[in-house]
Amino acid sequence: MSDDKKASVTGSPHAVPGSNGVTRRDFLNEITMGALGIAGLGSVAVTYQYFSPNVLFEPSTTFRAGNSDLYPVHSVTFLQDQQVYIVRMPEGFYAVSAVCTHLGCITQWKPDADVIACPCHGSKFRPSGVKIAGPAPRPLPHFAISLTADGELLVDKLQIIKPSEVLKV
Ligand code: FES
Repeated sequence: MSDDKKASVTGSPHAVPGSNGVTRRDFLNEITMGALGIAGLGSVAVTYQYFSPNVLFEPSTTFRAGNSDLYPVHSVTFLQDQQVYIVRMPEGFYAVSAVCTHLGCITQWKPDADVIACPCHGSKFRPSGVKIAGPAPRPLPHFAISLTADGELLVDKLQIIKPSEVLKV
């Protein structure tokens, strides 16, 4: 190609990549460096993930359920975020799991019928957790419940206790 022809191509307003002072080699070098940069970042991310501890963070099994005065006597209160019923009867407090012992559905408190009912297959329980109907094989378990120094109820969902163990306040 002659110098005249080169000059006319280089000065064209519709120049293609490589004709505007950027050679094909420069262009390919930039593409290659970009690809290597992306691959390098990917490698760093994978390496970081490989070396970071493989730990599953789960919510705490112990929670505060507020002041005992919040719960009137003869009340069943469903704590949706914990899936626990706080039951207060004249004999004291107990914390009952809201998870059905049949296949794990979340039960619902039906105050009109005075039962905890499972919407999935019809199991029914007394507020104390005792099963009265349906396919559930066991009563609803009771969780350990205690009182903190500042007067709040503290429930530990990791500790299953006997239904006879109530918290007297
Ligand atoms: S899951 Fe509750 S009765 Fe089946």
